[in-house]
Amino acid sequence: MTSGFPSATTTDKEVGVDERRITITVNGERRAVEVEPRLLLAHLLREGLALTGTHVGCDTTNCGACTVLYDGAPIKSCTMLAVQADGHEVTTVEGLGTASELDPVQEGFTVEHGLQCGFCTPGMMMTAKALLAANPDPTEDDVRWALSGNLCRCTGYQNIVKAVLWAADKQRAEAAEPAADAATDTADVTV
Ligand code: FES
Ligand code: FES
Repeated sequence: MTSGFPSATTTDKEVGVDERRITITVNGERRAVEVEPRLLLAHLLREGLALTGTHVGCDTTNCGACTVLYDGAPIKSCTMLAVQADGHEVTTVEGLGTASELDPVQEGFTVEHGLQCGFCTPGMMMTAKALLAANPDPTEDDVRWALSGNLCRCTGYQNIVKAVLWAADKQRAEAAEPAADAATDTADVTV
């Protein structure tokens, strides 16, 4: 898909702010877009690609509401230019799961009531997703450390931490299932 962004003012155009064509893979889909070099990745996602699950709470790298995965690593998309994502993979909260098949992290936030207003939640979940990919069996301290760059003004954090630990348990259980099946299959053949 190709789309331009009408964010430049007439004055910008007059002084020659040229758009750049970039290609990024967002939630598994390759997107070709034309952007101003100054456009932030958060704004490309929200306004250019209509992926409004990525929130902007501060624009100053403070709150973490804009966290997305960049080649699998959590980054604050208000602090990266869209052109820096050229040729890279970005995953937003919309890419985590579907309504009928939630990601374990999404399930954890549901089961443990890990949100109130929900503004911080997309960023919290993306940070949690990256943590569990790197460390499937985190301690409570690991979770708190990983989430230390994400601010929540509602929950007091306790249920968010519980939600991530719930998701870790669920992921490990799911990972163990194929091994159990394989063991059963092997036993069947032996008998
Ligand atoms: S909007 Fe990016 S850190 Fe707050
Ligand atoms: S749930 Fe409201 S800011 Fe976290």
